[in-house]
Amino acid sequence: MNMIVLNDGNKIPVLGFGVFTIPNDGPTYDATLAALKSGYRHIDTAAAYFNEEDVGKAVRDSGIAREEIFITSKLWLQDHCYEAAQKGIARSLRKLGMEYIDLYLIHQPYGDVPGAWKALEEAKMEGTLRSIGVSNMTPKIWNRFVPEFDIKPAVNQVEFHPFFQQKELRKIMAQDDVKLEAWYPLGHGNVELLTHSAVTSLAEKYGKNAGQIILRFEVQEGVIALPKSTNPTRIAGNLDLFDFELNDDEMEAMRSLDTGKGMHDPDAPGVAEWLLNAFKIED
Ligand code: A2P
Repeated sequence: MNMIVLNDGNKIPVLGFGVFTIPNDGPTYDATLAALKSGYRHIDTAAAYFNEEDVGKAVRDSGIAREEIFITSKLWLQDHCYEAAQKGIARSLRKLGMEYIDLYLIHQPYGDVPGAWKALEEAKMEGTLRSIGVSNMTPKIWNRFVPEFDIKPAVNQVEFHPFFQQKELRKIMAQDDVKLEAWYPLGHGNVELLTHSAVTSLAEKYGKNAGQIILRFEVQEGVIALPKSTNPTRIAGNLDLFDFELNDDEMEAMRSLDTGKGMHDPDAPGVAEWLLNAFKIED
């Protein structure tokens, strides 16, 4: 698996397997094991996905050494202050059944973000979190919080796909060599995207499917992509991207699909309250 070096020196596999919306107590366990067997070495979960236990169990049962697998989890909004964040980190470690987490993110950038970030910084210095980052930060939110951080985030995990390429945000993040992680890298299975002629013509040329072309474009853009699938053939196929390369003209054609608009707007009024009320993490 190709790796990217983060701004703190740690390495992350360029493709990860996302388990958002896959239920705990079985389905996430099965999907994570299938992903590990297919060759994924990077699993992306979160406290608010309610499936950290299954991810941890699958990693233990996989027979693959813990240090060969890159695990990401995320702190939920209810834990946004220094003390609550310390508890939230401990809870994630306990649910995963792990001594450290490779990457831990502030999942939603609202409330006492600076207090929560302080707890992440300390856990990074103690070694229980190897890398730390943020998620869903728009340029506006980034400029409000990140300049005050002592340790810069290693990543910002945001919506990203060919129809929403985050060009302004990527310029800001590049100043601190912060990598972009893509959620919804396939546009959440958007048919308009998957059947777009710019994508299907490349799929035909390279003998790949549309999803593989899109993911290949993202990886070549330096983006860490987190495709989600519960279909074992697609889980394996979405990793099969490293035997071809899009040329400069093809990359430009894919870049031109950007509409500058996504499905989720973190700056919209009421989003923070809606999210806070959407999930409650229990011990
Ligand atoms: P499925 O679980 O049946 O594979 P995203 O990661 O952008 O949220 O997209 C996930 C959606 O895209 C899921 O509905 C998933 O369906 C579908 N999907 C995953 N991989 C591919 C692929 N290679 N080609 C087409 N659709 C895919």
